[in-house]
Amino acid sequence: MKDIAAIILCAGMGKRMKSFIPKVLHHISGMPMLFYPIKTAKSIGAKKIIVVIGHKGEVVKDQISSLFAKDNILFVNQEPQLGTGHAVMCVEGVLKGFKGDVLILSGDVPLITRETIKGLINIHRRSGSVLSLITAIIEDPSEYGRVIRGKDNAVIRIVEHKDANKDERKIREINTGIYCISSDFLFQNLKRIKKENKQGEYYLPDLIEIAAVEGRKVSGLLHISPKEVMGINNRIELAEANKEMRERINNEVMLSGVTLIDPEAAYIQGGVKIGMDTVIYTGVFLEGGTKIGANCIIEHGCRIINSNIGDGSRIKNFSVIEDSEIMKNVSIGPFARIRPGTVVDDCARIGNFVEVKKSRLGKGSKANHLSYIGDAIIGKDVNIGAGTITCNYDGMRKHQTIIEDNAFIGSDTQLVAPVKVGKNAYIGSGSTITKDVPKDALALSRVQQRNIEGWVEKKGLKKRKK
Ligand code: UD1
Ligand code: CA
Repeated sequence: MKDIAAIILCAGMGKRMKSFIPKVLHHISGMPMLFYPIKTAKSIGAKKIIVVIGHKGEVVKDQISSLFAKDNILFVNQEPQLGTGHAVMCVEGVLKGFKGDVLILSGDVPLITRETIKGLINIHRRSGSVLSLITAIIEDPSEYGRVIRGKDNAVIRIVEHKDANKDERKIREINTGIYCISSDFLFQNLKRIKKENKQGEYYLPDLIEIAAVEGRKVSGLLHISPKEVMGINNRIELAEANKEMRERINNEVMLSGVTLIDPEAAYIQGGVKIGMDTVIYTGVFLEGGTKIGANCIIEHGCRIINSNIGDGSRIKNFSVIEDSEIMKNVSIGPFARIRPGTVVDDCARIGNFVEVKKSRLGKGSKANHLSYIGDAIIGKDVNIGAGTITCNYDGMRKHQTIIEDNAFIGSDTQLVAPVKVGKNAYIGSGSTITKDVPKDALALSRVQQRNIEGWVEKKGLKKRKK
């Protein structure tokens, strides 16, 4: 079996995105667009993957090489950018001595699948072609290169939109910019490409005419799904690609046994794992390496980033969870904010308007209303009353609060850290706790109530009935 080397072109500027960010770094389902063609090239076992960078190339290289830290992705700089043919010329040195097939992909055609690429390579090899390309028939072919077919329907040439005459512009079959080319043919003929055209560029598709004129075989594979081979040139196409990717991910999720109340309004990034019989409401965003267990309910408007949610847990409306671990049968929200470094143990409950940061809440413990819990270690079956606040920050440093099993923290308590509340202890409502509370004790730190009899009458404040 011959080897495959993949070249991914992305030195172009992407003017129509109207952006300071290089086009191939715009996100699709949480990943830079360029992530996808690289992943596809990897999945078909490409021996070498070469990314041609140019416009803001350093930024592209930094981001992509950190995403593929374990892989040996080569970056080749194309400066200045003199066209797609020139981009491939820049790679010649890196591929010296390579004997095999060269797969050429575009950084801005991210939806292409492994199956399609495998099909292209198979046809290329079985037909003995020197060059094979994927084409598509689309509604509005303007801006694209048109496919000219000769007798026997063979592809004989691509004409770019800007160079095409009136009749050629009527052709709706376009070049997708995805090719498989035998390396011998590629590097023997690349230098024959000229730049006598409207844009003064070296056009890679000119290789097709070079092959056809010499009677070498070219295969043009008409792809049935134009969506898959669409190029992204502006923000409308970016949104369409996001929609398509979402559909693919959501279909897979549903087929694995997860209910999506409305698949068009569930935003699940690739790589997120969800267990069986979990129900996802609308407007939910599941991001990063999030894992959701089985039998969970994730209600409307929740955002869960890089977190684990255990089986049977329910995340109620409009809660945000980031870099945290939620165990089994936990209830969170509505309107809760769980910040990084939080662990919520089995059967615990966190209610509305509660913020938790870098804390541990033990089994069965509850913080049901309006609290801030930061840098705290809370044991089992603890009750945190409404309005409780851990005062963890003294203006300079963060301090820890420890609350042991079965403690009861009355409403509106301030726990001035560092401080510890022992097992079974009670804290009276409205207390400001600055000293450790021993186990089994009651702590109270509020001023005793005083009643002044008849005070209202004396002040003349009594409301009279009319
Ligand atoms: C190209 C094809 C066209 C095809 C279309 C499909 C050429 C001449 N035309 O046109 O037939 O229908 O793609 O989307 O190839 N790039 C470089 N260096 C350059 C120029 C471009 O790396 O000097 C990269 C771009 O970043 C992009 C890809 O090559 O990823 C295609 O370039 P682009 O300018 O988008 O070509 P099109 O005009 O769309
Ligand atoms: Ca393009």
